[in-house]
Amino acid sequence: MTAATHSSHDPLSATDAGERAVARCDALGVPPYSEAADMLFRPYLSSAHRAALEALSAWMAEAGMTVRMDGAANLIGRYEGRERGAPAMTIGSHIDSVRNGGRYDGALGVMLGVEVVQALHDRRSRLPFAVEVIAFGDEEGSRFPTSMTCSRAVAGTADLSVLDQWGPDGVALVQALADFEPGLPPFSSAARRPGDVLAYLEAHIEQGPVLEAEGLGIGVVTAIAAQKRLSARFTGMAGHAGTTPMDLRRDPGPAAAEAILLVERVCGAEPGLVGTVGRIAALPGAVNVIPGEIVFSIDVRAPTAERRDAAAALIGAGVAEIAARRGLGQSVVVDQALDASPCDPDLTALLETAVAGVGVAVRRLPSGAGHDAMVMADLCPTAMLFLRCRGGISHNPAESVSPADAALAVRAMSRFIEALAESWPPTQTPPG
Ligand code: GLV
Ligand code: MN
Ligand code: MN
Repeated sequence: MTAATHSSHDPLSATDAGERAVARCDALGVPPYSEAADMLFRPYLSSAHRAALEALSAWMAEAGMTVRMDGAANLIGRYEGRERGAPAMTIGSHIDSVRNGGRYDGALGVMLGVEVVQALHDRRSRLPFAVEVIAFGDEEGSRFPTSMTCSRAVAGTADLSVLDQWGPDGVALVQALADFEPGLPPFSSAARRPGDVLAYLEAHIEQGPVLEAEGLGIGVVTAIAAQKRLSARFTGMAGHAGTTPMDLRRDPGPAAAEAILLVERVCGAEPGLVGTVGRIAALPGAVNVIPGEIVFSIDVRAPTAERRDAAAALIGAGVAEIAARRGLGQSVVVDQALDASPCDPDLTALLETAVAGVGVAVRRLPSGAGHDAMVMADLCPTAMLFLRCRGGISHNPAESVSPADAALAVRAMSRFIEALAESWPPTQTPPG
């Protein structure tokens, strides 16, 4: 990284802004912004989510935004442009976390968006478009089976059957929404009209080691990998752990062990392909009972939907073969599939110029993690900025990001938006 330079584009207090963004994520890392005292867990529509939105709402208002909650419980802060009601450039990320997660995955992107607007507000600067900061309520899928529910709602691509999904507490999503905020508008009303949203910018920790290895504070995302989430099940016969001889059992446990090794083998065979069994439960779940059922999740990701699907098909066939050989029942259900999402080339070029403008060598990199940007791409052009995170560690309480890198991100994002404003409206390509 070359020495950082300041210009008239930079917010006057980018250093403070970086520190404040990180400090706000830290503040949200404990109760009441977490459901648990000993870890960060902020699932969608929980009381921790509610508390986080209250804090965020005050920060958005302080930055000059009017704040509203949409029908999917996304919190949206709007900073008007020169003309009220103008279409908006959106900046966002998610406010939910995985169980025992880090403090910056998602939340940092929201806080950085607030800082970008705060800088505009401090300078009393109005752009030819509005700027909206969106805190998506569900990106992780920590409570209900599917993820990205809230960006799908905004992009208008949500399947309304998600409202009938249940979380582990047996409460349906539609009920959880009603309990979260009485009088919320209908879920479907969260969908935005394409012409109202000009672009979407998301800043996120890299969740990988590349930027740190190369000594760079920020980098530019080229595309987001395709992913598929599967729910798998082996069924056998529950029985007494002490009295049933090994050769007379129909135990789904060893079958699940074979399936996990299969996922490792299939996804380990090709660079770029990854597979994870992150959740597994033996039922009924007692020390002295041979399980009657094993349920487990499979998460498969690849640079293209074709490679992802080919791997998922091999895994599905392998699970069926294991079950047949062991005399078990089985099922593999697709909970969700997200296709790979390239970032918009023009916006990405603008973001690269902004990154170079704050003195950082431009590093382009793909994202293996999923992000709201991949869903927002169905609504508008998207761009993504990555921030270095210590050790590349994420989905882990050890997640760490430096205030200096957060400050760099605020400066690059501010430059990006101002460059967008300078070139606004874009010249129309003549038809034909
Ligand atoms: C979100 O963190 C995902 O990539 O699953
Ligand atoms: Mn995450
Ligand atoms: Mn995330």
